[in-house]
Amino acid sequence: MRKQLSIIFFSATGGTAKIVKSITAGIGGNYEEYNITLPANREKGITFDASDLVIIGVPVYAGRVPDFLIDFFANVKGNHTPAVFIAVYGNRDYDDALIELKDTFERNGFIGIAAGAFIAEHSNTLKVGTNRPDSKDLDAAKQFGADIKIKFEDSDAILQSPKLIVKGNIPYKERMSAPPIAPDTSGDCINCGICAKHCPKGAISLYNFKEVEAANCVRCCSCIKKCPVQAKSIHHEVFNKITRALIDSFSTIRHEPEYFL
Ligand SMILES: Cc1cc2nc3c(=O)[nH]c(=O)nc-3n(C[C@H](O)[C@H](O)[C@H](O)COP(=O)(O)O)c2cc1C
Repeated sequence: MRKQLSIIFFSATGGTAKIVKSITAGIGGNYEEYNITLPANREKGITFDASDLVIIGVPVYAGRVPDFLIDFFANVKGNHTPAVFIAVYGNRDYDDALIELKDTFERNGFIGIAAGAFIAEHSNTLKVGTNRPDSKDLDAAKQFGADIKIKFEDSDAILQSPKLIVKGNIPYKERMSAPPIAPDTSGDCINCGICAKHCPKGAISLYNFKEVEAANCVRCCSCIKKCPVQAKSIHHEVFNKITRALIDSFSTIRHEPEYFL
């Protein structure tokens, strides 16, 4: 593919990053990486042109694109720039996240050429989407990248390709409002600061790692999954209720990736 490849992804617990990188491996060649997981990497906008190909990957939060990414995405501009949209969800559903991602970027000068929905372990619990993306998912993502490369090897194919259609509804499903919920920190905390360093919202104080700003926490569970001594956990009744419902309905079924090409 004679395009300069760039990847943009948000990935608090690593699932989206794995999928986007496998697709990239399937396309092959060099690429520029914009990992926008940390707030510092969402400060400056990015501009692309028609010689670029951009893969954009986000996790699905409540069936939508995470709301705190929308302001940053307004500053990612294309100019007839081909793009691949990827939504990664926790084995429940991706609802309207993929169509919202596509609409957001197409409004900004990108031309959608392909899109996909993939599955990762659910942030709330190891029991839903357990160990995903697994090797089958990653092979499928790589093959999807190879298919994109073959289909769009020639730039004319991009111009001639019919408008991309993905699954999802307009209007998008209402964003869910949740009470402020933040993880608790047990006495096992060793003050290593890994949680604060990796918090995608900067919600954990850099001076007191036990202090979490609940209004700013998005319950991505990065701190819980990265803590080396399992000192962080969420005990809020709303969170527990949602998690129990997820386990009841989605722990024993396996959704498979979907492709729009
Ligand atoms: C606030 C929040 C809302 C979520 N909503 C959904 C959802 O609607 N459907 C779903 O299947 N997974 C949902 N998930 C799970 C994530 O989409 C899934 O774990 C994701 O792939 C994690 O990506 P990452 O590992 O790149 O951070 C949600 C996770 C969080 C934190």
